Amino acid sequence: MEIFALPKGFLLGTATSSLQIEGGDRNNSWYRWGQTGHVKDGTTSFIAADHWNRFPEDIALMQQLHLQTYRMSLEWSRIEPEQGHFDSHAMQHYRRELEMLVATGIRPLVTLHYFTNPLWVEDAGGWLNPEAADWFEGYTTYVVENLGDLVSDWCTINAPNQYLAQAYLIGGWPPNEVGLTRYLRAARTMIAAHIRAYRKLHQVRAAAGYQNTSVGTALHLRPFDPKHGTGHERRAAAISDRLFQELFVSGMCEGRLLQPLGSGYPLGEGRYCDFFGVNYYTRDIVNCADAPAAPLGRREVRDGAPTSNLGWEIYPEGLYRVCRRYWDRYHIPVFIMENGTADATDAFRADFIYKHLWQVHQLLEDGVDVQRYYYWSLLDGFEWLEGLSARFGLIAVDPSTLERSVRTSGWFYGDIAKNGGVTTKMLQQYFG
Ligand code: BGC
Repeated sequence: MEIFALPKGFLLGTATSSLQIEGGDRNNSWYRWGQTGHVKDGTTSFIAADHWNRFPEDIALMQQLHLQTYRMSLEWSRIEPEQGHFDSHAMQHYRRELEMLVATGIRPLVTLHYFTNPLWVEDAGGWLNPEAADWFEGYTTYVVENLGDLVSDWCTINAPNQYLAQAYLIGGWPPNEVGLTRYLRAARTMIAAHIRAYRKLHQVRAAAGYQNTSVGTALHLRPFDPKHGTGHERRAAAISDRLFQELFVSGMCEGRLLQPLGSGYPLGEGRYCDFFGVNYYTRDIVNCADAPAAPLGRREVRDGAPTSNLGWEIYPEGLYRVCRRYWDRYHIPVFIMENGTADATDAFRADFIYKHLWQVHQLLEDGVDVQRYYYWSLLDGFEWLEGLSARFGLIAVDPSTLERSVRTSGWFYGDIAKNGGVTTKMLQQYFG
């Protein structure tokens, strides 16, 4: 292991999402999904990490870890519990949280949509209904008018590709209505919603005199690598890449619709991302030899590879590959919006962080303008279908007492933030 330094101005932080940590909200699609028995360990999001009530404690912990930025999301179902009815109490709550972050010198980056919908949206067809783009724009307008003085950095929609794939292509997530046509239809709506929100966030903040608005998205990106390298596998990998990634990258960054989503620039040609946001966890090995009937093959983990508690391959080079690919295409600042691992006993998280940040260091050496890294996640939270059982936090949360305790890997990450890199002393302390 070698020491390395991150450049001055590089920001380290953590990411969370509202449903996964806040608790206390029943008015959203995921709470209902949990109620109807879909979550593996039978838990629901109703308590989660109780961050709604404990955010001052959590911000104090971030401060103790020297974190410089925090990526959080707002719960649309709290802010607009019924169509056109905005809840000023929810807004006041988020203002208090953001004011506290700003006062402690932690720069917020706010995500507007993170996998959940208010029930009124879900029951009106969710993102299959093209009107969802109008509704989302209305919500965005209310939010930026009320929080625009505190927040300059925005993520419109988190990982629309992951959300829509699980809701409409692979299945398992609400509303679990599988079909390619539905997937594509919802993707068109989300791309339109992103572009409209991008314009709105800039417009409202510019009208209020702010020049430093930065808006993007966060796409869940991964390499698809053919197992045996046959023509069939390479084609299958390319189709997965297009369906899962390229449609969203070009739609959201450029307004360009690729087949089979559409063609050309029906929403206007432009640059709708001020930064390129990457959520990176793992890669897929595409195996067609052993799954001849599946048109896209079987997605596997490389034989013998190290894996997380969820069985995901730990593959740090993938972070380099994904960031490099889109930097070469767009030349806009890269924000690593999520990167993390499930490790209940904290056996390999520090090593995971070290190896992924080493890749960031390599990217910087090679001239890629990576500006931020958000570890996923600050706290153990509600991990969608896994419920509370998958532990991603730098800070452990006891599910019965909700007590927080910083894991060793959390202190390691905090030391990286404090020192602007990894020093010899840290290598000795954490890796012996
Ligand atoms: C999602 C997070 C989730 C993480 C781990 C990511 O792809 O964006 O919400 O917690 O995976 O499951």
